[in-house]
Amino acid sequence: MRNPKRYTVTAALPYANGPLHIGHMAGVYIPADIYVRYLRARGRDVAFVCGSDEHGAAITLRAKKEGRTPQELVDEYHQKIGNAFRDFGISFDIYHRTSSELHRRTAGDFFLKLHQKGVFEEKTSQQYYDPEASQFLADRYITGTCPKCGYDSAYGDQCENCGSSLSPQELIEPRSTLSGAQPVMRETSHWFLPMQRHEDWLRTWLIEGKLDGKQHHDPAAWKRQVIGQCKSWIDGGLQPRAMTRDLDWGVPVPLKGAAGKVLYVWMDAPIGYISATKALAETDGRDHTAHWQSEDTKLVHFLAKDNIVFHCIIFPILLKAHGDYILPENVPANEFLNLEGKKISTSRNWAVWLHEYLEDFPGRRDELRYVLNAIAPEFRDSEFTWSDFQTRVNNELVAVLGNFVNRTVVLTHKFFDGKVPPLSDRDFGDSSAGRALAAIEALKESMPEQLEAYRFKEAQGEMMRLAQLGNRILTQEEPWKTVKTDRDHAAAVLHLCIQITANLGIFADPFIPDTAAKIREMLNLGELNWDSISPTLIAAGHPTEKPALLFSRVEDEEVATQIEKLKQAAEPATEPKTAHMPQKASVAFDDFMKIDIRIATILAAERVPKTDKLLKIDLDTGLDKRTVVSGIAEYYDPADLPGKQVSVLMNLEPRKIRGIESQGMILMAEDADGKLSFVNPDSAAGNGATVR
Ligand code: MF3
Ligand code: ZN
Repeated sequence: MRNPKRYTVTAALPYANGPLHIGHMAGVYIPADIYVRYLRARGRDVAFVCGSDEHGAAITLRAKKEGRTPQELVDEYHQKIGNAFRDFGISFDIYHRTSSELHRRTAGDFFLKLHQKGVFEEKTSQQYYDPEASQFLADRYITGTCPKCGYDSAYGDQCENCGSSLSPQELIEPRSTLSGAQPVMRETSHWFLPMQRHEDWLRTWLIEGKLDGKQHHDPAAWKRQVIGQCKSWIDGGLQPRAMTRDLDWGVPVPLKGAAGKVLYVWMDAPIGYISATKALAETDGRDHTAHWQSEDTKLVHFLAKDNIVFHCIIFPILLKAHGDYILPENVPANEFLNLEGKKISTSRNWAVWLHEYLEDFPGRRDELRYVLNAIAPEFRDSEFTWSDFQTRVNNELVAVLGNFVNRTVVLTHKFFDGKVPPLSDRDFGDSSAGRALAAIEALKESMPEQLEAYRFKEAQGEMMRLAQLGNRILTQEEPWKTVKTDRDHAAAVLHLCIQITANLGIFADPFIPDTAAKIREMLNLGELNWDSISPTLIAAGHPTEKPALLFSRVEDEEVATQIEKLKQAAEPATEPKTAHMPQKASVAFDDFMKIDIRIATILAAERVPKTDKLLKIDLDTGLDKRTVVSGIAEYYDPADLPGKQVSVLMNLEPRKIRGIESQGMILMAEDADGKLSFVNPDSAAGNGATVR
C-alpha cells in the first residue's frame, strides 16, 4: 500500500434543486465520511471537499417553473442541503458552491488554459432555437413525441417513459418549454472536447493503471463495475463533446465573442472540487495546489454509478490536458439504493428525506448511518425497508453493541465501584475470553485493509464482531455469578470487556461517531487516535462514568408511521377515478327490509398492528357494545374518533379480520376519488336509532 503525504477526498456535488435523501447518503456521503474519519484517526492530512452543483439546465428550468431566478432557487437549496449534511454529521472540511465568485474564476481560468493549449475544437453546428424567447434551447428545454415509444412528453435528451437517451433532433413535433413555440434550427458555435483523441492513454490508465509510462495506481483495487462501465464507453467510441452551452446561467465562457455562452455543467461542476479546496485553503492556510498538483497526494472521488463516466473519463481528460493536475487514484462508485421495493424518485416523492429523518428520529443519526452502511449498494443495487431498519437497529445495535457496552459498564459499577478491575494473571485458555486481547490486535490490523480497499460494510461488520465477542464473553463467564465465589475471575472478565469497549470507542468512530464519543465519555477517555488502539488501552483502577444507554429500540409504531408517511406523500401511481360507480341492479323492498342499520357512537378506536388501513373500533349501538374492524385508517386518525356518531350495518354475519371478530360494518360514503367519510344523522339521534 502506498503511503501518500496527503489526501484529497471529494464527494459528488449534489444539484441544488432538491433535498437529500437516503439514497444519496448510502451511495456517496456515508462511505466518503467513513473513509475520511478513518484517515483522520490515522493522523493523515486530508481535505474532504464538497459543495452544491448550482448550474445547468435542470436548475434554470425548475426556477422558471417556480417563477423565481436560478440564484434564488440555489440559494434556498444550498442552505438546506448544507444544513442537512451538517446535522447528519457528514464531516466535510468545506461545503462550497459553484455559483460563488471564486468558483467562476477558477473554472473560467481552467477553461482559458485549455483553450490556450489548443485542447478544444471550435465547431459550428445546427441547434434548436426558440424564435419567441430568442434563445438557444438546451436539450432539456425541448419536449416532443418519443420516436421510440410514442410518449408525447419526452425531453430532448431522454424519454422518461421508455428510458431511451435521445437527441433533440429525433423528437417528433418538438416544442420549446419556454414559449410552447416550435423551435427552429440555427447555427451556433461551441468549444468541443475531442475525446476520441484521448482514447489510448485512457485505456492504458484505466485498464493497466499506467500513466505516462509509470504505474499510477493498482487497477485491481478499482471496482470491477467501474472499470467495466468506462471500458464499454470507450469501446463504444468516444465522440467530441461540447464543453459550452448557450444558456444565461453558468460560468461565462471567458473569451471575446462568447456572449451568452457558459461552460457545460459537467465541465464546471468537477472543477468545483478544486475551487472548494481553494476556499478551504483560504480559511485554514493549507496548500491547495499540493492537494491537486502534487504526486504525493492521493485523490479519491466518491460518487454514484450515474456519475462514473464524468469522473473517470471526461474530468481526467480535462485534468491531464491542463497539465498541472493529478488524476484520481480510485473512484469507488456505488450502485443505487431502492426503497421499499421501488426506485427512489424525487419527482414521485418516493424517498426518505434526510431532514425528515432527523426530525422524526432526533438524536438517532448513528442508527441511520449504521443501517445505510450495512446495506450500502457497494457492488449491486440494494434496498432499504423500514422493517429491515428496525431489525438491524434492534438486533444489532441494541442487542449486540448497546447491550454489551451497557452490561460491561453496569457490572463494573455494581461490583467494582466503577473502577476498571485488574486482569491479574488469569488464564482463559482458548475460550472467548482467552481470545479477547488478540482480537483487538487483529482488528487493528484487518480493519485498515478493509477501509483502504473501500469495503466499508465489511469493516463495520468486523467492528460488530468484536462487540459480539464481548457479549459472548459475558454470557459464558457470567461475572455477576462468579463475583460471589471468585472475585478475581469476575474482575478479569470485566477487565477484558472494558478493554474491548474502550477500543470500540475508536473502532466504531468512522461508522457511528456519536456512539463512539459516548463510549469514550463513559470510560473517561480523552481524545484517541488509531495508534491508541491496544489491549492495554485502559489501566486498572481507571474510573468510569455512570452507564448511559447507547441506542433505543425502534418500535413497531415508528415503522408503521414511516411507511404510512411514505405512502401518503407518494404521488398516486394510478390516475384518480373520475366517474362514480354505475347504479346497481334493483332489489325487492322486502330484501331491503332485511338489513338492519343503526346509529351508534364510537367509544374507542385503535390501529390494527402491522396494517396500513385497518382500525379496530368499539361501538355503543344502543343495543349492545360491540367491535368492528374498518378499513378507514387512511382517512381517520383513531385519536379523533371517540364520540363520533356513525351508521352500522348490524346484522352482517360476523367475520374474523386479523384475529379480531368484526361484528357488523360501519357504513361509509365513498366519493369518486375513493375518499371515505362517515354517514351520520344531521340532528342528534340516540344510539340504536334505526336507519331505513
Ligand atoms: N450534481 C451531479 C449529480 O448530482 C454530480 C456532480 S459531481 C461533480 O449527479 F463532480 F460534477 F461535481
Ligand atoms: Zn420513449
